[in-house]
Amino acid sequence: MRRIYFDNNATSPVLPEVFRAMKPYFAEHFGNASSIHHHGQETRAAVERARASVAALVGCRPSEIVFTSGGTEGDNLALFGLLGSADHLITSTIEHHAVLNSSKHLQSVGCEVTYVPVDGRGLVDPDDIRRALRPNTKLITIMMANNETGVLQKVEPIGKIAAEADVYFHSDAVQAAGKVPIDVKRIGCDLLSISGHKMHAPQGIGALYVRKGTVLQPMFYGGNHERSRRAGTENVPGIIGLGKAAEMAQQALNAGDLERISAMRDRFEQRTLAEVEATGVNGDGAPRIPNTSNLYFDLIEGEALVIALDLKGLAVSTGAACSSGAIEPSHVLTAMGLPPARARASLRFSLGKQNHLDEVEFALDLVPQTVARLRELSPLHHATTSK
Ligand SMILES: Cc1ncc(COP(=O)(O)O)c(C=O)c1O
Repeated sequence: MRRIYFDNNATSPVLPEVFRAMKPYFAEHFGNASSIHHHGQETRAAVERARASVAALVGCRPSEIVFTSGGTEGDNLALFGLLGSADHLITSTIEHHAVLNSSKHLQSVGCEVTYVPVDGRGLVDPDDIRRALRPNTKLITIMMANNETGVLQKVEPIGKIAAEADVYFHSDAVQAAGKVPIDVKRIGCDLLSISGHKMHAPQGIGALYVRKGTVLQPMFYGGNHERSRRAGTENVPGIIGLGKAAEMAQQALNAGDLERISAMRDRFEQRTLAEVEATGVNGDGAPRIPNTSNLYFDLIEGEALVIALDLKGLAVSTGAACSSGAIEPSHVLTAMGLPPARARASLRFSLGKQNHLDEVEFALDLVPQTVARLRELSPLHHATTSK
């Protein structure tokens, strides 16, 4: 059966060039980058080249990049590295759980947290952040792009507010990296997290930009790796993969290659909206990353649609979380004001560099007929059409 993967915001395949770059660093160049002999120096040099590529992708100095195990660790290191029980944190209601659950934990140890709301398009109002500032505010953390809707926040005005108030600013850019240009100086952030597996590098590697002079309490204690900011022997193959993926992402952004992806996404979205009734775009009217389309299909259970599409070979996802057996509607979509039923009827389609137009055509064929079939079976549909 033909299988098409439109769930690249969950994870993306390692590109062949990235895999080729990594391969020698498993068995051939296997040295510990801290060793002073030839084997160690060889991997150290490769790690530093990768650091320079990652730094170039976000516009910072190589020394400001700390390699981590992924986005979750980067977000945790930013929050726990800075905040203590007497501090105040400002974040938003639509952050990834790596930030939200870290914030909840910080609250449990006495840190104050303000969760600013979003509007119907999923956008934070920078003035809400300004109003939330307190004398003990130490950090503002607002994501650059949302993982469910792809909506891009106005990070530059938030950076200005943070600078004026002399407060640290962290942005979770896990879903933005490689999809839109990132310039930490222009954003005015002190910390920014990225993750390899959302940008065609492997799972289990990521990076945190830490502006020079920002002192973080480390999360791990051990050797003096990563300038004492992250102890533990480096994941050399992962780092090499992230470096190569960063290089390729930069080239793709420079060459306008992301326009190919946004054209496919737009075609998918527009045709689906035209062909399927009672559907719409979550995050419509807001700037979005080029690969993501979050659509609601009223009168349908999103989980049922995910399963039905998967049975026909199309992999997509809902933003819903399954907690204690019950499907909770997405916290992002409910924060945007969607009623729970519409939030549960929403699906995320996220494209990647490996996708092609014929796959979009396949999805355009499949989605309307599958939605129609499920609506036929839906008691909700019968209740409304028989009125
Ligand atoms: C916005 C965002 N932040 C953080 C993460 C966590 O990244 P990782 O899977 O690398 O830990 C994800 C992954 O889904 C994400 O989408």
